[in-house]
Amino acid sequence: MKRQIENLALLYPIPIVLVGTWVEGRANFATVGDCAIMGLKPALVAVSLGAGCHTVRGLGEGDAFTINIPSTVLLAEVDACGIASGAHVDKSAWFSVSPGPRTGAPCIEECPVNLECRVVERVSFAHRRIFVAEVLVAHVEASLLEDDAVPRIAAMHAFDPIIYGLDNQYYRIGQPIGTGYAEGRDLVETEGAAPSSPPLDGGSEGATKGGSVS
Ligand SMILES: Cc1cc2nc3c(=O)[nH]c(=O)nc-3n(C[C@H](O)[C@H](O)[C@H](O)COP(=O)(O)O)c2cc1C
Repeated sequence: MKRQIENLALLYPIPIVLVGTWVEGRANFATVGDCAIMGLKPALVAVSLGAGCHTVRGLGEGDAFTINIPSTVLLAEVDACGIASGAHVDKSAWFSVSPGPRTGAPCIEECPVNLECRVVERVSFAHRRIFVAEVLVAHVEASLLEDDAVPRIAAMHAFDPIIYGLDNQYYRIGQPIGTGYAEGRDLVETEGAAPSSPPLDGGSEGATKGGSVS
């Protein structure tokens, strides 16, 4: 049995990120839970911000920003970046900050992942300002990568990202429980259909086999 509840955007869990911009010459970071993948090829993301926040001002000055993915050791700083506005507090003082080599947008050294992004679309809806952006380059802590010719992420859970729930609690993710495009393969083959391949590992091959690159 299910019960109908209020219209919550229950697309959870999603990692909490720190969105980095330059505002009036100073690096600023906002805690953002409303961050989503919009596609893998090209690599697209979207962040949704309150119209009045300092970060929106920064995105009025330029079209580059960073998505910094913190691990759980940065919990206090992450919460603080969501409580204080850069209009009043210099949040850059809490981190080691360097300009991203591709866009110049501010990267947090302590975060294991920094995505340098460029805005490709701006959407205003109610009090939200939504920025769709292309990920131009990803910087990943070397210890989280497999030592290969093409660097690959060894295990997502090793990032130890912070998850924020609609219950206002922060969570940590658990262990992997299966492999994408593999766990359901038998079920699809039983139906006589050809399973598609993962969009990243399979590349364009995945698309020609009938799999869509999201
Ligand atoms: C856990 C958490 C999640 C948040 N998620 C968002 C969000 O998705 N979008 C948003 O605009 N503000 C979000 N906020 C609030 C902003 O981080 C907050 O308004 C911050 O002061 C904005 O910083 P700025 O004014 O320096 O840009 C969140 C805060 C917390 C603590």
